[in-house]
Amino acid sequence: MKIDGIPYRTVWLDAGDRWSVHILDQTRLPWSLDVVRLTTRDEAAHAIKSMQIRGAPLIGAVAAYGLCLALRADPSTEAMESDAALLNATRPTAVNLRWALDRMLTRLRNTPAAERVATAYAEAALIADEDAERNETIGRFGLPLIQTAVRPGRPVNILTHCNAGWLATVDWGTALAPIYTAFNAGLDLHVWVDETRPRNQGAALTAWELGKHGVPHTVVADNAGGHFMQHGMVDLVIVGADRVSRTGDAANKIGTYLKALAAHDNNVPFWVAVPSSTIDWMLSDGVADIPIEERAASEVTDMTGRLPDGSIATMRIVADGSPAANPAFDVTPARLITGLITERGLCPATADGLLGLFPERR
Ligand code: MRU
Repeated sequence: MKIDGIPYRTVWLDAGDRWSVHILDQTRLPWSLDVVRLTTRDEAAHAIKSMQIRGAPLIGAVAAYGLCLALRADPSTEAMESDAALLNATRPTAVNLRWALDRMLTRLRNTPAAERVATAYAEAALIADEDAERNETIGRFGLPLIQTAVRPGRPVNILTHCNAGWLATVDWGTALAPIYTAFNAGLDLHVWVDETRPRNQGAALTAWELGKHGVPHTVVADNAGGHFMQHGMVDLVIVGADRVSRTGDAANKIGTYLKALAAHDNNVPFWVAVPSSTIDWMLSDGVADIPIEERAASEVTDMTGRLPDGSIATMRIVADGSPAANPAFDVTPARLITGLITERGLCPATADGLLGLFPERR
């Protein structure tokens, strides 16, 4: 996608040395666009853990490049296995992390140590390119959902939660891919962007990237969605996911479940857009078994913003002494999901629906 007319991806190799890895530092957005150069395994692990990069598909791609950086330092089998384990432990919920590292290891375990670095970079590049292609395809499959909601004289109103746009992936995004596709096709649409406390991925990232692409949008408090749905102001909800069970339960940013409940109560279609790298074929009960990341209480007690003088400040918004809890994800049960948008097409959020699109997983 483009920022001020210049095409970007969220992760790319240095054009000069062709081995160091560049990312956009998402902890600095929307205030400044900073590119960070990663040169070691530990820098890649830090980028994932500290959420300089985030979003399930991008976490997977950066982990793959993190393993490339690790192999430059030590390509032995022993080091490779422990480097992959260290990267895999950076965040627990997004299954794309495990998926990407498993794919890298499957390719590399059969490769002689002397050839591992070159093979790893080639595989990481494939993971990145395939993510961009899959998401673009998700956009094309999701387009008719927006087209069928068109009514004369008013925009199609779509609500989204968190950031599942191009910043959360290598390119295009998952939930936002159908929106970009529809917007590029000239459809009149408008996006309600949940601010997504506590880290404000909606307000800081989704609003920023939609704005850069010229897509009409409005940021709303997380609690406003139910009200808008009751008053016919939401035609459909599209969200991404960090892990989908084989039965269609979807873990996504905390608060997604409440949006699904409100959508169900108001007959608003609720779609989850995911590349197949986000489906955990080993899990059947998402609510019971998807690991939910618990993050620092300070993400709830503090907020960061820009002061009128342009400086960035972090301040406490909770009474001194009050503890805070911070589960970063929740799981929306499949029964509340209208359907899944994947790179193979649309399907019901059921085991049969998913296996119909991915029969090789039977
Ligand atoms: O904690 P984050 O910001 O990594 O969480 C991201 C989300 O929940 C996204 O909605 C999800 O990864 C889908 S990304 C295409």
